Amino acid sequence: MADPQRAHVAPTSASGGGVSRPGCAEPRPPLLSVILVGQRSLTQQRHGRFVAGSGAHPARMAPDLAAALICDHTQPGELVLDPLAGVGTTLVEAIHADRNAIGLEYEPGWVALARANIDLARRHGGTDHARILRGDATRLPRGMPGELRGQISLVLTSPPYGRTMHGRVEHRRGLLTRFHNAYSHTEPASADPGNVNLAHRGRAGLIDGITAVLAGCVPLLKPGGLIVVVARPWRRDHFLVDLPGQTIQAGLAAGLNLVACRRAVHAAVRDGRLVPHHTFWQLSVARASRRKSMPVSLIQHDDIAVFAPNLNAGCRGWSP
Ligand SMILES: C[S@@+](CC[C@H](N)C(=O)[O-])C[C@H]1O[C@@H](n2cnc3c(N)ncnc32)[C@H](O)[C@@H]1O
Repeated sequence: MADPQRAHVAPTSASGGGVSRPGCAEPRPPLLSVILVGQRSLTQQRHGRFVAGSGAHPARMAPDLAAALICDHTQPGELVLDPLAGVGTTLVEAIHADRNAIGLEYEPGWVALARANIDLARRHGGTDHARILRGDATRLPRGMPGELRGQISLVLTSPPYGRTMHGRVEHRRGLLTRFHNAYSHTEPASADPGNVNLAHRGRAGLIDGITAVLAGCVPLLKPGGLIVVVARPWRRDHFLVDLPGQTIQAGLAAGLNLVACRRAVHAAVRDGRLVPHHTFWQLSVARASRRKSMPVSLIQHDDIAVFAPNLNAGCRGWSP
């Protein structure tokens, strides 16, 4: 792992108040394997940038992570696609960084919130060229306007993952209750591999779905374009579930080349020490494992796979 003190820290607003527009550092620093994205809390990162209700989504990307990846892998004016857009974090950060953006999302409720978030980002002075469409990303490039073929500079996305790790908890009124842990109001009864929402499939169906999504993005990429997938591992019954590794396998099965592996560490550097931002669920699982004498580490990172459709394209900005 790279020296965290040297790691690229996403641009920050120390105050956390008001709406920050981090933008991209110029000149751009060389890319490093490790991105520190916990210098600000998630609340500070999202403050004023997303409309009420967005917090109900169970698996949003950290805004500073989306911003860092967009700045690292695109130039102003280029087009970013998120085919699994949720409430539109990647689109919002693209807008704030003066990139153009388009997203696809299957659940109508998240589509409506993503649209409202795009409008809010525009009102804050970002690019005007952004939109969200409702559709099934496993059928891409179907569903995308024909004129976008060969126009996308960066696909930036994250698949749904580990439902056992989702949701917020409330315990001040006695018993611990869990909320905001569902991808839709109407969850199908079974984890059928044919469910359109990948979150409602079993693992094999999820990986098949990710493969289809990635393969469908390829015709949309412009020469030199990249596909960046953020995926988080988790533990189930004390064992590591390697969604990042399976995501890489999905990319390879989709005919992509893996050009870089990066890692986003959700921790702040304070007084020369890393202070982790873990979730309640990750901490519970780690503690339960340790009680059973399994000395597991607390997961506080996302893995980032950078793919290109062909190796000659390389990885823009990347100097390993
Ligand atoms: C991990 S979440 C993305 C969250 C997003 N990055 C954000 O910060 O809001 C994955 C999203 O993919 C959506 N999704 C799942 N299957 C889909 C499909 N077949 N087509 C389009 N969207 C899908 C889910 O509804 C979910 O909102």
